[in-house]
Order: sequence, then structure tokens, then C-alpha cells
Amino acid sequence: MLTIDEAGGRVILQRPDGTRATYALDTHEAFEAISAAWLRCGWDTKYVYSFTWMGRPIIQLPEDMIRIQEVIWRLRPDVIIETGVAHGGSLVFYASLCAAMGRGRVIGVDVEIRPPNRAAIEAHPLAPHIMLIEGSSTDPRTIATVEAAVAADETTLVILDSNHSRDHVAAELDAYAPLVSPNSYIVACDGIMAQVVGAPRTQPDWSWNNPITAVEAFLQRNPEFVLEEPDFAFNEGQVRNRVTYWPKCFLRRRP
Ligand SMILES: C[S@@+](CC[C@H](N)C(=O)[O-])C[C@H]1O[C@@H](n2cnc3c(N)ncnc32)[C@H](O)[C@@H]1O
Repeated sequence: MLTIDEAGGRVILQRPDGTRATYALDTHEAFEAISAAWLRCGWDTKYVYSFTWMGRPIIQLPEDMIRIQEVIWRLRPDVIIETGVAHGGSLVFYASLCAAMGRGRVIGVDVEIRPPNRAAIEAHPLAPHIMLIEGSSTDPRTIATVEAAVAADETTLVILDSNHSRDHVAAELDAYAPLVSPNSYIVACDGIMAQVVGAPRTQPDWSWNNPITAVEAFLQRNPEFVLEEPDFAFNEGQVRNRVTYWPKCFLRRRP
């Protein structure tokens, strides 16, 4: 339980094990405790289902968009591959960054690109920066199509935002990691699942059936990748950790 005492300038955290902690509001601990509650409240209220990017719905937490933007600006990739297109907002977001940087293009993969979504993406001003591939992201034909669209010497960033079950993310990691350039990342989105078990629209097995367990197993098999938080590009405040739906998501390929 969290008590926010704004007048007293503190938060009081009562943990499930019965221990208590009190943090002043100007500490990163207070910010993290309030953020955890805010994330849970945001889940229950479907906050992430309330944004668009340049006209297309995008199902992301705004901080996750800013943080991946920081990574994209630093890497300036030639290709961004995203599995999980939905309405296309994230594809358009990445495409808009490519257009602004004057570099890069986006490949979006989805098992089902609904006709209205396809039509809107294909009619979008940023469509020249976007290639759509319809098919399961783990289908060998889909993977072959993606591979054929990427040249060996291109700097490639991969973002996994399709089916977030452990086995699917594990199969995606195996399939797409070989495309990731040295010092670039494969990003396994939505590791928040274990944190929200018990909330509406969740399943009890999310405690283990989630992207993070897939990431941990992948890292055991693939020492050329390391789980690594990209540094904040700018930080003059106390906060050190992302407020995110994508914990433990950034797997960097070692050079
Ligand atoms: C969370 S949504 C993607 C949200 C989108 N990236 C955004 O930010 O707006 C997940 C998408 O994954 C797709 N999907 C589910 N299973 C898939 C699979 N096996 N292969 C590819 N896409 C899949 C769904 O059709 C859905 O559109």
C-alpha cells in the first residue's frame, strides 16, 4: 500500500511482507514507488490506449517512446524492424524519426494487418519509409522476407512488440537476433506483464509466461548479447530508472 503525503513531503510504502519505508518526495525512491502505483493504475485504466502519432493510434507509454527515440538518435540505424504493427502508430513514429534524421527505413511485421490499418499506413505521408510484411513473425517465410529486405552491412535495430508469450518472444529472439548489428539492440517490449498479474486483462501465468523469461533464457544461450540499459542521454535530476512497460528489454549485441 502506498500513502502519498504531499503536505508532509513524503510517501509511505507498506510492502506485502509487512515492512514499511518512508521516502521524502525529492528522492528517487519516492518517485519509483509512486511510478509503480501509477503504472498499475495506468494499466487498469488502459492509459496506453489513448495516444496517436501523426494520426495513427500508438499503443505505448510516452516515456518508452522518448527512450527508444534516444537510442535511435544515437544509433541512426539504416533499418528498424518492428514485429507487431496493430494500427501502425509505432511504425509511423519510427518512420518519422527516420525522415527527420534523413536516414533509415522501417519494416513492420504483423500476423494480421487489418485492411483499414493497412490502407491508413499506406496512405500516410511517411509510407515511403515503411515496408509492411504480413505473416507470423516466427514463420520461416516471414523471416526470409525480412532477411531479404535487409543488406548485410546495414545497421539494424529490432523491436519485438507482437505476441508477448515466453515461447513466442524466445522464437523471435532466435530468428531476429542474427540481424542485429554490433552495438545495436534487439528490444523485447512489454516485460511489465509479471508486474501486473492480478490486474484486469491479465493471466496468472504472466508471472513466468512473459518476455523477460524469454530474454533471460536467450542470454544464457547467446553470450554475444548483453542486457544493458542505455544511458539517459540527458539527466539533471534524481531519477535514474525508466518508468516503463519495457523493463529488461534492451539486449545489446557486443561488438
Ligand atoms: C501490442 S500490438 C502492437 C502495438 C504496436 N507496436 C504499437 O506500438 O502501436 C501487438 C500486435 O502483434 C500482432 N501479433 C500477434 N501475434 C503475432 C505474430 N505471431 N506475429 C506477428 N504479429 C503478431 C497483433 O496482430 C497485434 O497487432
